[in-house]
Amino acid sequence: MDRQSLRGQRALVTGANSGIGEGVARALAAAGASVVVNFVSKPEAAAKLVEELKTDGVDAMALRADVSKEAEVEAMFGEMQSAWGGIDILVNNAGLQRDAAFTELTLEQWNTVLGVNLTGMFLCARAAARSMIGRGLRAEISRAAGKIVCISSVHEVIPWAGHVNYAASKGGVGMFMKSLAQELAPHRIRVNSIAPGAITTPINRAAWETPEARASLLTLIPYGRIGTPEDIGRAVAWLASDDADYIHGQTIYVDGGMTLYPEFAQAG
Ligand code: BGC
Repeated sequence: MDRQSLRGQRALVTGANSGIGEGVARALAAAGASVVVNFVSKPEAAAKLVEELKTDGVDAMALRADVSKEAEVEAMFGEMQSAWGGIDILVNNAGLQRDAAFTELTLEQWNTVLGVNLTGMFLCARAAARSMIGRGLRAEISRAAGKIVCISSVHEVIPWAGHVNYAASKGGVGMFMKSLAQELAPHRIRVNSIAPGAITTPINRAAWETPEARASLLTLIPYGRIGTPEDIGRAVAWLASDDADYIHGQTIYVDGGMTLYPEFAQAG
């Protein structure tokens, strides 16, 4: 892959001040893109990342918006439009978990997860698509008029007891992404998902922090290691580049084999 394959492109990564979002922002910047670091809390982490990217000569800025709130999303895209004139790459990454046994699951926990993980993707993709369609193709920059990458999860297809709200949101991301891909293809906007498995980030700290938890998690990963934000960042940067220009409407699992039903290696 051309190391500067995203040169001249303007990217926005939601939830980019930690975890997978941070890894994605760094990878896009390393491939030559300018990056908006969206965040909702911990402004100091977003500011630090922006400073680091700028030190490396990358154009970057931090913009606060809760992706589940229409007015905040519209204001953020408005700011990006005035500052940089448009958007070439949207990475719909912001996501959270509010875990509970199903009979204890509150409406608030349900709505919070669906609001950020699914409605947030809708609001950001709609704002990005409007801007991309309005501008059209810039052939000197990319073969596509825009790229939208949704960060899904292995729980797009693996059911997850105790996490019904989260799994439902990621299952929804699957059909959201595919239907959007079908609708935006005539505009030459590519829409795909990357579905990570277990990645060491704050969202699943309890699953990898202690040696016991780590050992139990590893039984679910045939490839024998837990993933890193860099693993996901590299996949997203490639998927957003013209090297992946014919990939459209696909969910690519980056999971060390977690979706291979590893328990069947010894049973069945
Ligand atoms: C979840 C993590 C979990 C991983 C694998 C991710 O989507 O956010 O908490 O460790 O899936 O189960």
